Amino acid sequence: MDYRRLGRSGLKVSELSFGSWVTYGNQLDGNAARECMAAAWDAGVNFFDNAQVYAAGKSEELMGEALKKLAWPRLKYVVSTKFFWGITDGPNERNTLNRKYLLDGVDGSLRRLQLDFVDLVYCHRPDPDTPLEETVWAMHDMIERGRALYWGTSEWSAAEIMGAWEIAERHHLRKPVVEQPEYNLFHRERVEKEYAPLYDEIGIGLTTWSPLASGLLTGKYRDGIPPDSRGAMPRMQFLLKDLTDQAKNRAVGELDKVAKELGCTLAQLALAWCAKNPHVSTVITGASRPAQVKENMKAIEVLPKLTAQVMARIEAATAGVAG
Ligand SMILES: NC(=O)c1ccc[n+]([C@@H]2O[C@H](COP(=O)([O-])OP(=O)(O)OC[C@H]3O[C@@H](n4cnc5c(N)ncnc54)[C@H](OP(=O)(O)O)[C@@H]3O)[C@@H](O)[C@H]2O)c1
Repeated sequence: MDYRRLGRSGLKVSELSFGSWVTYGNQLDGNAARECMAAAWDAGVNFFDNAQVYAAGKSEELMGEALKKLAWPRLKYVVSTKFFWGITDGPNERNTLNRKYLLDGVDGSLRRLQLDFVDLVYCHRPDPDTPLEETVWAMHDMIERGRALYWGTSEWSAAEIMGAWEIAERHHLRKPVVEQPEYNLFHRERVEKEYAPLYDEIGIGLTTWSPLASGLLTGKYRDGIPPDSRGAMPRMQFLLKDLTDQAKNRAVGELDKVAKELGCTLAQLALAWCAKNPHVSTVITGASRPAQVKENMKAIEVLPKLTAQVMARIEAATAGVAG
């Protein structure tokens, strides 16, 4: 496993990392959650992603219990959480990035994670109701108070990220160092076009999510919805249109041929493709069982096989279905 700088910051993260959305607290209990983290760690993963809203705080609890049992040295791993949607009801508890919610929220996450600080904290979505300056000051103060080390955004527009960075620059505050966008073979525009000026101008790094498009890029949805898959979960029905999209599943069939020729699985090819982008600091992988983690981590062995010729074949296979 190689380790890449998180944008222009000095923090180094493993090029593949591991996240707990959907799975922790819904599909995985404490033991399985810990086994998945251990499998990722054994492959060299040092970054574990979480969010306040995942399973309404349960995901942070499970990760906290796992970290306690695994007892890795704190310096050796990076943990993140994210804020926006909230987990309790009230005018300052939902869909906000105001100062009151953020500074209260991080203390709750630290309690659930059983940590003194998180390494990375994200504003999970932009908040049109809170002045950007208030959010930037709150993130700065969160760091100054020792609750977090670095901060960033998730699914903010390039203009919003630039706006936050400029406020921090003007007031000598902690700047956002990272954005967390969706990025996979079918979802590319934002990372490749909208954010393009940000990489050089302000040195934003990327921790990218849903590299397998929720499992579509494993090929498992080509013949319908497997009963033990994310697509079969009642809460995940909003994904079904994409998971069963015929054109995308035809492209998956073409990609599978490329994977077979390279001697790897489709999932490994799709993950390696994300990691091939030099602006990506880390590809956050997800898994519902340890065997998937083991398979997915071998994607790093596929990276050197992605020659210009192979990349051109991948482009051709996904032409017309990538957005
Ligand atoms: N910032 C944000 O807004 C945001 C949004 C989403 C995710 N994230 C982060 O990104 C992480 C990854 O996202 P994701 O879980 O959507 O990633 P993904 O790689 O697109 O999907 C992971 C899911 O695909 C299936 N899968 C994974 N490997 C497989 C394999 N080798 N063979 C067959 N099936 C496999 C598993 O689901 P089943 O086995 O259940 O089918 C697994 O849970 C999350 O955990 C979270 O940390 C962030």
